[in-house]
Order: sequence, then C-alpha cells, then structure tokens
Amino acid sequence: MPQVQNIQWFPGHMAKTRRLIKEMLPLIDLVAEIIDARIPISSRNPEINKLVESKPRIVLLNKCDMADDKATRQWVEYLNDENTLAIPVDCKTGKGFDKFLPAVRQILQPKLEKLQSKGMGGRTLRVMIVGIPNVGKSSFINRLVGKSSAKVENRPGVTRGNQWFMIGKGVELLDTPGVLWPKFEDQKVGEHLAFTGAIKDSILDTETLAMRLLESLQTMYPQMLAERYKLKCDVENTDSYELLCEIGKNRGMKISGGEVDTERAANTVLEEFRNTKIGRITLERC
Ligand code: G4P
Repeated sequence: MPQVQNIQWFPGHMAKTRRLIKEMLPLIDLVAEIIDARIPISSRNPEINKLVESKPRIVLLNKCDMADDKATRQWVEYLNDENTLAIPVDCKTGKGFDKFLPAVRQILQPKLEKLQSKGMGGRTLRVMIVGIPNVGKSSFINRLVGKSSAKVENRPGVTRGNQWFMIGKGVELLDTPGVLWPKFEDQKVGEHLAFTGAIKDSILDTETLAMRLLESLQTMYPQMLAERYKLKCDVENTDSYELLCEIGKNRGMKISGGEVDTERAANTVLEEFRNTKIGRITLERC
C-alpha cells in the first residue's frame, strides 16, 4: 500500500510558533483555537495544550458550512463534555460569530470579577487566534475585525509589529495568528489534510489520494457518493479503483483508445469533495 511521503513534522516552523506564543502569552487572556469541522482530529495540533498552558480556551469548529451538521453537533457536545467550550462557525456567512464575544466574556467572567475586586475592573481582555494553516484563521480575523473596529494604539509592553483590534467593548484581538503545524505521524492525518487541501504538496499521487478518499466515503457516505456520480454498483462493496473507473465512465472521461481517464476522474472527486459538491461531509468522528 502506498504510504504518505514527503511530509513531516517541521521542527523549524514549530519552534517559531512556540516563540511567538510564548512571547504573547503573558499578554493574552484567552486563546481561540480554530480547527476544521470536517477533520477535527487531524486539524488540531497535538502540542496545543502544552503551548497555551493553562490559558482559557475556546475551540472554533470552522467551515461548518462544509461539514456534516449532525457530526458537528456531536463534536460540540464531545468537546463541551471535556470542559472545552466549542462553537461551530462559518467564515463565509458569519454563522456562529455572534456567539464568540459572549463566550469570551462568559469564560473570562471569574477573571473579570477578580480584576474588579482589585479595582482593575476596566481592564481590556485580549484574545489570540491559533490554528494550523488553511483552517481559516485569517478569514476569521478579517470577518471579526472588518465589522467592528479601529486599530488599537501601540502601547508599551506590546511587541512592535503586532497590532490589536477592538472587537467588542473591552475585548481586543491580536491581528497575528499563531500558526501551528499539523503533525503527520499518522498516515490518516496526512491523508485527511490532503483531502481538504490543507497540505498543498502532493503527498500521494492523485489517483491514490482520490481512492483513499473514496474508501472513506464508501463507508461513511455511500448514498451521497452514489447520487453524485450516478453509480449503479454496490458502492460499499466495490473496489475503490473500480469506483473511480465508473465515475470517470459516467462523466465521459476517456483517453485515446477509449480507456477511462482515471487521473481526471481522481481530480474531479478531490475537487468536488473540496468544494462540497459531493455533500457536507465530516471525515472524523468523536
Ligand atoms: P488560514 O489563515 O488559517 O491559513 O486560512 P484562510 O483564512 O486563508 O482560509 C483558507 C481557505 O479556507 C480560504 O479559501 C478561505 O476562503 C476558506 N475558508 C475559511 N473559512 C471558511 C469557512 O468557514 N467556510 C468555507 N467554505 N471556506 C472557508 P481559498 O480557496 O484559499 O481562498 P478563497 O476561496 O477565499 O479565494
């Protein structure tokens, strides 16, 4: 079986992130971790707990417009049961954004009360966004900041180059997100990041990658697959290469000699998964 190649844990990138987070952490009251609702396990950096130490945290399940609603609800419950407040969001339409500031205030309520008792009730709360590449960190910041708000003046103790934006009364957001790196030790993690397009490099040839995706969809969403590609076979029990051939055939993808152009079919499957044409899909369950 082909293995995921050419991807690895980038120690250099993580060292840079560690420095940024360590430098900013003393100024931060809350960390908002963005993950991809379609792959909540693979899009989480396993070092996150160590990195943000004991800072209060909110998990934002972004791209929920592309994920399976039922699975997203289950993930929210699962994370809440683990004492992590999770909010499904969608940066395209702004869904879930109205819940963000109230959640920040709710989590920081004990801190606010403590500050108040020390006569520092007016102190601004500061939030930092973290997440692996492509989960939507910039989209989230842009949408949140775009609607509100003025840049906050530089002030002593804040590293030059970092900007703060007022995103609500008494709450500021750091404009520079902490870019975490995914960890590819598990073959599945690499594959899932490649399916969603989080990893741009070709980690497997296109056909193999599409076959892996089809294998997941055959088990988890056979009906959607059959409908999208008008498949007549027994979707759950057909070899993924044969499935790819049937998809290519049904779409009239032929090369000279009449053979099915499986590479084109593979590209189509990957593209249509990435732009939600197959359906709203969550590949990882809690
Ligand atoms: P990053 O900073 O974490 O690296 O992610 P970024 O905001 O650049 O978002 C990565 C891609 O994901 C972008 O698409 C962005 O539009 C898309 N995206 C972010 N949030 C959502 C969401 O909630 N729903 C959907 N459907 N897409 C989202 P792109 O193809 O790279 O660019 P473009 O489509 O914006 O041109």
